[in-house]
Amino acid sequence: MSLIAIHDLRFTWPDGTPALAGVSLTVEEGRSLGLIGRNGAGKSTLLLHLNGILHGSGAVRVQGRPVEDWPADELRATVGLVFEDPEDQLFMPTVLEDVCFGPLNQGLAPDAARDRALAALASVGAAGLAGRAPHHLSTGQMRRVALATVLAMQPRVLVIDEPVMALDPEGREEVIALLAGLPQTKIIASHDLEMVLALCDDVAILDGGRVHAHGPARELLADDALLRAHGLRMPASPGGG
Ligand SMILES: Nc1ncnc2c1ncn2[C@@H]1O[C@H](COP(=O)(O)OP(=O)(O)OP(=O)(O)O)[C@@H](O)[C@H]1O
Ligand SMILES: [Mg+2]
Repeated sequence: MSLIAIHDLRFTWPDGTPALAGVSLTVEEGRSLGLIGRNGAGKSTLLLHLNGILHGSGAVRVQGRPVEDWPADELRATVGLVFEDPEDQLFMPTVLEDVCFGPLNQGLAPDAARDRALAALASVGAAGLAGRAPHHLSTGQMRRVALATVLAMQPRVLVIDEPVMALDPEGREEVIALLAGLPQTKIIASHDLEMVLALCDDVAILDGGRVHAHGPARELLADDALLRAHGLRMPASPGGG
């Protein structure tokens, strides 16, 4: 049984914009899947279906169980979703309260939740931001904190929309190394194909709300013609490789 199984998922936004036109994908426990595709391909819309924020037609199963059959809190603690826009993730007066929110909701005692939160903040290089107001942070700082809010819950599946967008080069490397060291199943949507190659076993190319290719990251990301057909480019390696 696949940990995540998506079957013929279709979704149109309330304003009539079609976003998913029959997506089928599976992700096995412990694997990492990179979701790539041009702007508007449907990546973010797809991720929002994985923990029950959006419901399209078709089926999304987590651990074999349809997402609509899961209690909402339990699903969100199992499938941790980091939004594309970190402002959507942060709503408490301080960073520490935001990162404690998930663990407290999972039933941890305040001290244990605080320990989890501080460790998660340290792991994303944001320990010094604990007392700050989330909405006064820089974009990159906010993105780190948003990631920490999900890491603190230690979910079985990490679903991350653009994990390194707006991070400085050092922060980008740190977050890639951090994610590489985490044992969880991961689904990562990104335009940073170098990062996808470094982190993901498999890749799915989304275009026009459909999966156009799904296979080993090393194979798909080496197929320049395939990438170009979907508006994608692998950055040239230094030295012109
Ligand atoms: N809230 C919304 N209301 C209406 N349409 C939306 C909404 N959010 C996204 N869309 C539309 O759904 C389609 C898929 O968008 P989505 O954000 O999933 O793409 P994406 O692959 O994540 O793109 P990007 O690379 O820019 O992040 C697009 O046509 C987009 O305009
Ligand atoms: Mg997106």
